[in-house]
Amino acid sequence: MSDELVQLERRSDGVAVVTLANGKVNALSTQVLGRLHEVAVDLTDDPPGAVIVTGGPRLFAAGADISQFAADPDPSTFEIAPATRVRELGGAFLTALNAIAAIPRPTIASVSGFALGGGCELALACDFRIASERAKFGQPEILLGIIPGGGGTQRLARLVGPARAKDLVFSGRQVGAADALAMGLVDRVVAPDELDAATDAWAAELAAGPSEALAIAKAAIDGGLSTTLEAGLELEQHHFVEVFGTDDARIGVASFLEHGPGKASFH
Ligand code: COA
Repeated sequence: MSDELVQLERRSDGVAVVTLANGKVNALSTQVLGRLHEVAVDLTDDPPGAVIVTGGPRLFAAGADISQFAADPDPSTFEIAPATRVRELGGAFLTALNAIAAIPRPTIASVSGFALGGGCELALACDFRIASERAKFGQPEILLGIIPGGGGTQRLARLVGPARAKDLVFSGRQVGAADALAMGLVDRVVAPDELDAATDAWAAELAAGPSEALAIAKAAIDGGLSTTLEAGLELEQHHFVEVFGTDDARIGVASFLEHGPGKASFH
């Protein structure tokens, strides 16, 4: 499987950068999703401090590779892909994006241009989204007569609420960065020429933090969101005890008692 499709760079500041590099529109073919899964497993087995996921300057990603939705590549004999193929396509999204979501470090999607369909869903699988003022987000699957299959009906609804998610999914319309920020789909918006620097600074700040405690906080929040409040509160108690067993807790609490708040250095 080619590593040209998804590049992984580990930087000396503890930030790893995952860059989609699949031709001009960064379509998420099953090959790209397979490679994305490999990269996510690598980042889970040997975690950096923080992860940036990005694409091209104009196209973060145009979504699933629509050519894989046809049974046969020949357009003159078009037939829609059979259920067995569709299960494989959906399974490739589920596996890859769950693996991205499970990376035990803070993840930031840095979106410069279009993040549509599976591209938007990949951004949703990250902890945060930072966007250029030029970025566009959308779940246009309905315009093809289908629905999102990479988390767009689930992660999007949990993030922005069911009515806003239904508006985007039912209409297939694109929203600009300002609207995406207002609805909570995006966390920060910056001028196009500031996107890389703003992303790097945010990721470096997270990477300098207490990595084990951050991983445990992420597990508590994400684990709690997929269960009841009662079970989530139990889960939090479990992780609260767990975090006291880490070096981060020893460093952070000792530093507070000796030097006051916010002085601890974890690396
Ligand atoms: N899968 C496969 N091919 C795609 C694609 C996708 N998701 N999105 C675009 N392409 C192809 C186009 O068919 C076109 O191919 P061609 O050069 O052989 O004609 C090429 O990429 C460029 O697309 P084009 O629409 O001409 O470029 P654009 O810059 O005007 O627009 C997009 C780019 C991404 C905004 C637009 O192509 C688009 O809306 N794509 C569909 C997105 C979508 O529906 N995603 C959800 C999939 S479930």
